[in-house]
Amino acid sequence: MARTPFLAANWKMYPIPAGALEADSPYRPQSGIDTAVFPTFLDLKACIDAGLPTGAQYGHPDSEGAHTGDVSMVMLKKLGCNFVLCGHSDRRHDHHEEDTDVAAQANAALRSGLHPIVCVGETKVERDSRRQKKVVERQVKCLPLTQNITIAYEPVWAIGTGVTPTPEQAQDMHAFIRSLLPDTRRESTRILYGGSLKPDNAEGLLMQPDIDGGLVGGASLKAQTFRELTTIALRIKA
Ligand code: 13P
Repeated sequence: MARTPFLAANWKMYPIPAGALEADSPYRPQSGIDTAVFPTFLDLKACIDAGLPTGAQYGHPDSEGAHTGDVSMVMLKKLGCNFVLCGHSDRRHDHHEEDTDVAAQANAALRSGLHPIVCVGETKVERDSRRQKKVVERQVKCLPLTQNITIAYEPVWAIGTGVTPTPEQAQDMHAFIRSLLPDTRRESTRILYGGSLKPDNAEGLLMQPDIDGGLVGGASLKAQTFRELTTIALRIKA
């Protein structure tokens, strides 16, 4: 089954990149490729109003309640979000999110009508001790895998470092993640790669059969660089 390539721009705690809201914004989906942007909570509305497929970087699983500083999935959906990131490693690290928290987020997103992009990936210590598949299996197994979700494999040691796995190492992990999916979802679920993805290394990674696109951090902060990534993805995948 052909899976439509998907490039998601995680802007983390940075402002909206110049040109992103314009009519010719490269963050808009094109024929043959899906895109989405993940700005800060403060910038969600501007992106939604500009017509960009938009998601939040986090949503609280409860629909409302005494959770100072948080925003619920239900509220994000009501605002006009389509997507939400769940379990990004920044949040697993900064906010001590555990696998069960991430699973609760993914389930709440689905209940609210948001499409969850769930992030998984091992640390350098875990890879150095060859535990990467055990770790990723644990992270994946607790997710609602029979539902329509997207998984992003983001090895923590590749995020913001300029270092990436080889295309073969990434493909090996993506195929492993796919093998964990139920028969009903194995071919249709998109598995994105994230971690220092940029135009220089995108071709080798996106050529891999089980890599369906990317969750892009640093290289998504410049419209021109993101445009180059969409061009490469379209050439290889579409
Ligand atoms: P970088 O592309 O900056 O390494 O970030 C990846 C990431 O964390 C995307 O969610």
